[in-house]
Amino acid sequence: MRRVVSIDGPAGSGKTTIAKLIAQELGYSYLDTGALYRAVAFSLRNNMIEPHDSDDRLRAVLSRTVVIFRNGRVLLNDDDVTDGIRSKDIDHYSSVFSARKIVRDFLLGSQRDAASHHDLVVEGRDTTTVVFPDAKKKIFLDASLEERAKRRYIQYRDKGIEISMADAMNTIVERDGRDAGRDIAPLVKAPDALLIDSSNLSIEEVRNTILDFVRKDP
Ligand code: DC
Repeated sequence: MRRVVSIDGPAGSGKTTIAKLIAQELGYSYLDTGALYRAVAFSLRNNMIEPHDSDDRLRAVLSRTVVIFRNGRVLLNDDDVTDGIRSKDIDHYSSVFSARKIVRDFLLGSQRDAASHHDLVVEGRDTTTVVFPDAKKKIFLDASLEERAKRRYIQYRDKGIEISMADAMNTIVERDGRDAGRDIAPLVKAPDALLIDSSNLSIEEVRNTILDFVRKDP
């Protein structure tokens, strides 16, 4: 395994923005594991799979599903779904289907493979605990519920998706509950992860804090 910096944290904590910046600064590859879960949810929904369908039904679809994350784009069976997976619907279903063991097992190998040839900045719910428990540096990025809801609201609005502030807040609360409350690989801070509360920090400040941490004791 090459050098891995993993960034975990709840929805709307700024993981994606920050992880991209850190990867750029360090010259590492970047992997957004949430995008992989989103692409799988997209594939399952396109194949009419419902949340409570059996593992066999999910397995049948997964066996014909190939998800690749390359240069910041997400390919699902060769189709670029980078924009399509950022909908409210997929926010919901990626959180639902990611609680299924069969889905997590399906994505585990490709996440680990990403660090076999390149130094990697990886972000996502269990990347510090399950996927890369031996990562060189681990960060748990958090922010208050209000701040995360505000960021999500702005993200939706910038994409032209209609949402009220109250709905953005409800979406975050619902996803927090599901991502942290599930039995397999729940959202939890690894004991050796640096906790950063970004509620009152600029992107630049978070970026610098992480770079200092990563460069210390290399
Ligand atoms: O980070 P995101 O919002 O794009 O992730 C979408 C969903 O995927 C999230 O609700 C939980 C799930 N996920 C996960 O279970 N494990 C990961 N490593 C990344 C995401």
